[in-house]
Amino acid sequence: MRTSRSSVRSRLTALFAGAATLGALLAAGTATAHAAGPPLRDLAEAKGKVMGTAVTGSKLTGTYGEIAGREFNWLTPGNAMKWGSVEPARGSFNWAEADQIVDFAEAHGQEVRGHTLVWHSQNPGWLDNGNWTPAELGRLMDDHIALEVGRYKGRVAAWDVVNEPFNEDGTYRQTLWYNGLGTDYIARALTAARAADPAAELYINDYNVEGVNAKSTALYNLVKSLKERGVPIDGVGLQAHLIVGQYPSTMQQNIQRFADLGIDVAITELDIRMQLPATQAKLTQQAADYKAVMNACLAVSRCTGVTVWGFTDSDSWIPGTFPGQGAATPYDENYNPKPAYHAIAQALGGGTGQPTEGCTATYSVGSQWNTGLTGQVRIACAGASLSSWKADWTFGAGQRITQAWNATCTQSGTTVSCTNAAWNGSVPDGGSVTFGFNAWWNGSNPVPTVTLG
Ligand code: XIL
Repeated sequence: MRTSRSSVRSRLTALFAGAATLGALLAAGTATAHAAGPPLRDLAEAKGKVMGTAVTGSKLTGTYGEIAGREFNWLTPGNAMKWGSVEPARGSFNWAEADQIVDFAEAHGQEVRGHTLVWHSQNPGWLDNGNWTPAELGRLMDDHIALEVGRYKGRVAAWDVVNEPFNEDGTYRQTLWYNGLGTDYIARALTAARAADPAAELYINDYNVEGVNAKSTALYNLVKSLKERGVPIDGVGLQAHLIVGQYPSTMQQNIQRFADLGIDVAITELDIRMQLPATQAKLTQQAADYKAVMNACLAVSRCTGVTVWGFTDSDSWIPGTFPGQGAATPYDENYNPKPAYHAIAQALGGGTGQPTEGCTATYSVGSQWNTGLTGQVRIACAGASLSSWKADWTFGAGQRITQAWNATCTQSGTTVSCTNAAWNGSVPDGGSVTFGFNAWWNGSNPVPTVTLG
């Protein structure tokens, strides 16, 4: 982050928004489906990250509005700020939806990610079809950026200035901008955006750049050369439109290499699609994939946070764009949180959010010698089931975990917290899962009580 303006404001207004939300919940009783446990935005903030969602302005009322306001602290207009939306006819502007989203964000203590200024898609017909000279095209781009960024100066914290500039093989995409102005349209756009709002964070955003590959390497090389030339660039956006079961294993490494260039990284459009119909197995895998993305971002301090591209399956671009696929977001079409929601919460340090009555966790010591022990925890369900789990206990006599298998365990002080591995989150009704660990002990080795979360 270049300034602390955003985080301070979000902290102050979040207090206010929290009070307002509590009031709304009390007034609404329990009619609205919502997850137990703290909202994602609070969990994220405690970790120094942001949690965002793309939104559609017209839907920001009722349950959709409640969830958008309660769970997220960043909003991205899904379409409202694109050139084709704001200037459908030349010189004729429509800012209504963009304004509405920015107003909503301010009322809920949220920051806005502006999306997007210079792109090959969703441009107005008059722009796509005009036969512009390079000089005209350059002026159109400069003026558009000055107008839109200037309009929201001080109110939009970060801009996706340039969207999707690369082909899959790392060559530049042939677009209106590239064809007319050459590769330098990118530097020019960034410079114009900085002039229009010096406090806004400026990003280049693209898809299929989550792992290390030819396309992300081209983006990396571009950012490196922009930095060397002194062109203003504050971050890269990794869209992360992923497919269930295909989490890119080099994601953390890729985020780290961008961070090492001295810029921020944001996950800007996360969704994880599947072939419909959704099954329990696919939703469980999806939860593991969401968690992996969260963990990759959490592991790198310059990763600012994660934005989902729509929080509910009822407001997702996937079914319309990838026929036969869907169920890509953390909430189902009826606003019920899916395993993916709980996985995000869990990655951010929250509980699984699932009722755990009917499931028990039993700690036992398998063998113990001088100062070492091997133990295990068995989680069993009867009349209930889990799609992910978290097992916590207190080592009251100074024991320390050194190694765990079939779970990820961390120990902080006396508190041990273990979450499922990618392959064993699901505990079926009548079934069980066991994980093991090694630990040191000294003096005494009492058996702790394990709490499922
Ligand atoms: C999508 C919107 O979600 C859809 O409503 C619209 O019809 C098409 O664009 N990458 C981007 C986003 O940067 O702007 C796209 O949003 C999804 C892919």
